[in-house]
Amino acid sequence: MFGFLSSKPIVLFSGIATASGAAILTKEYFQGTKFKDPIRADGKVVIVTGANTGIGKETARELASRGAHVYMACRDMKRCNEARDDIMLDTKNSNVYCKKCDLASFESIKNFVKEFKAAEKNLDILINNAGVMRCPRKLTKEGIEMQIGVNHFGHFLLTTLLLDLLKKSAPSRIVNVSSLAHAKGKIKIDDLNSEKHYDPAEAYNQSKLANILFTRGLAKRLEDTQVTVNALHPGIVTTELGRHMSIYSSFLGKLFVQPILWPFMKTESSGAQTTLYVALSPELDKTTGKYFSDCELKQPVDEALDEKIIEWLWKVSEKWVKLDKIPSAS
Ligand SMILES: *[C@@H]1O[C@H](CO)[C@@H](O)[C@H](O)[C@H]1NC(C)=O
Ligand SMILES: *[C@@H]1O[C@H](CO)[C@@H](O)[C@H](O)[C@H]1NC(C)=O
Repeated sequence: MFGFLSSKPIVLFSGIATASGAAILTKEYFQGTKFKDPIRADGKVVIVTGANTGIGKETARELASRGAHVYMACRDMKRCNEARDDIMLDTKNSNVYCKKCDLASFESIKNFVKEFKAAEKNLDILINNAGVMRCPRKLTKEGIEMQIGVNHFGHFLLTTLLLDLLKKSAPSRIVNVSSLAHAKGKIKIDDLNSEKHYDPAEAYNQSKLANILFTRGLAKRLEDTQVTVNALHPGIVTTELGRHMSIYSSFLGKLFVQPILWPFMKTESSGAQTTLYVALSPELDKTTGKYFSDCELKQPVDEALDEKIIEWLWKVSEKWVKLDKIPSAS
């Protein structure tokens, strides 16, 4: 008798079910490859920068669940402690530590390294994960444009100050989280600091290309040390990284754009898979200076292989972080 009433809701309901079923299937398809090797990391000492949220947090969680001693290097200690509590509860690993490290301040980075070295004699894996994405123009403590400042210079200094421990702990690994955005990046030789012109996406892309150039520059310098360094693209991930992207954070974005993009975005834990693969896989014991995406070796763009730019950026970086004034740098 009320059949005419129920038919429409049923059609609507099955329409929604089909659409969400398709979205879930699509999402699984686009999640990419999982790192399936159950390899343990018991007792390995690991640093993950930017570990309080997003892929960094999932990377820290996975490593903790495999038995590593994980140092979460973060700017915001309150959020770091919350994330650590969550990871400890989840993994039952009590060797998870928060240490303050603001990558937008050379002083904070040096303090972090000092404290870390007082606590640990080894470092097996350094994961340079923290990143700033497409923010309005801001400067680091030292006056460097924020995106290249944190994504590149901060990690350059951190890595350099930890090289002695990494060498002592060899075989050890440095993992640099870059992005596919490197492909559109240009190193602005005459305006590296974006003083003449600032475009958030351009500065972000530049900083991600810098990550890959540095990975190669460092790999060359670390030949014969059994310290490997590789870069990777984690996939587009639904994290807070996108919080500066206007479509994503606007009200309309939340209503319309996020649901449409959702099937194609990686979740945080799937975004961590390539990082885990590059950090742990025994297949990669001897692999260095390479670039990965979706747990596979990929070719970066030609500009990332340009020796002249690699060396130019290296020299500028040494100068800007004033390496010659840091006694512990070797
Ligand atoms: C990646 O690699 C080198 C280590 O070479 C480091 O100096 C550079 O700043 C790192 N960048 C990041 C965050 O990936
Ligand atoms: C930055 O990279 C993204 C992703 O590859 C690309 O869509 C965008 O056009 C690039 N922007 C600039 C200004 O280079």
